[in-house]
Amino acid sequence: MKFKKTMLAAVAAGALLLSACSGGGGGASTGGGEGGGDGGLIGVAMPTKSSERWIQDGNAVKAALEEAGYQVDLQYAEDDIPTQVSQIENMITKGAEALIVASIDGTTLTEVLQTAADSEIPVIAYDRLLMDTENVDYYATFDNELVGNQQAWTLLNGLGLTELDGTPIDGAPEGPFNIELFAGSLDDNNAFFFFNGAMDVLNPYIEDGTLVVKSGQTDIEQAATLRWDGEEAQSRLENIITANYSDGTKINAVLSPYDGISRGIIGALTDAGYSVGDEWPIISGQDAEVDSVKAILSGEQFATIFKDTRELAKVAAGMAIAALNGDTVEVNDEETYDNNVKTVPSYLLAPVQVVKDNVESALVDTGYWTKADLGL
Ligand code: BGC
Repeated sequence: MKFKKTMLAAVAAGALLLSACSGGGGGASTGGGEGGGDGGLIGVAMPTKSSERWIQDGNAVKAALEEAGYQVDLQYAEDDIPTQVSQIENMITKGAEALIVASIDGTTLTEVLQTAADSEIPVIAYDRLLMDTENVDYYATFDNELVGNQQAWTLLNGLGLTELDGTPIDGAPEGPFNIELFAGSLDDNNAFFFFNGAMDVLNPYIEDGTLVVKSGQTDIEQAATLRWDGEEAQSRLENIITANYSDGTKINAVLSPYDGISRGIIGALTDAGYSVGDEWPIISGQDAEVDSVKAILSGEQFATIFKDTRELAKVAAGMAIAALNGDTVEVNDEETYDNNVKTVPSYLLAPVQVVKDNVESALVDTGYWTKADLGL
């Protein structure tokens, strides 16, 4: 593939590598619109502002690109697929030299990505894989299967069965423990990695009877939550409680793939009469959103998975700049992420489990959130 190359951009790419520690956590700017230097335009398409993490991501990608001298067109599509398609079309029309795309539905962008390819615009899939197309050049994400493993390990740890890395604890309780399972949106390839990664850990405990899924809903199709919507998760759990727990038995743990879903789960449990400190279930999460970190501190949520969006932004920005300059793009995984047409060369970052004990060291000491953000 031929990408445009300018000296200015090549210098800027070097500058990006030197400025390894930029990007903001809680205090970053609000993003949106265009800005930056004269190193060419890069389009950044984000799915929605309704989840905090994508705001953090967008701000951090924009900051990294602008610092390297590029102009940035950052757009959010409010989870509306036609909006995202037309935003990307507009970026191409405006002369974007590279695209960084976090899709809403990874299968819906094949046509607009063909247009990008026809204009020799490199495309970086941001955190969510772009599916069913050959026109995605690189993928920047986290080790998503490990995220799923880690979510399951936090549940087992909260139940007293294992350490946070899954090592069994001697003399652990025998159970049985009742668990219910939630997955993310089936149009997001990550949902499968998270759920399968979690189930690889949980299945042996389900098979030996330590964990019991009273609803019987163990397939990802049954557990899925369209658009990762917390309200949808809340009503699904309400239905599960009515159908399976009206005999007074209690849910002991809930697998949740994302903090927004965890908040829906907490709502359903609270409405059903559960209270913290009195057989309150162990609940997992992901993204270290402020409200959910506060819920960890108050004991409503047991854990989240922190994925440092500042690091992901730097990787994706570096990939876009290197690709458009024809430079070598650093990847560390060339076999995991098959999008049904090709295996996309990827760079995977490491996710971090956060429980009450390490909120400060993982999130405050790293500057991701301030003590004030978390009410500490
Ligand atoms: C991301 C998660 C996020 C979820 C919902 C996934 O694609 O990897 O970090 O929780 O989308 O926004």
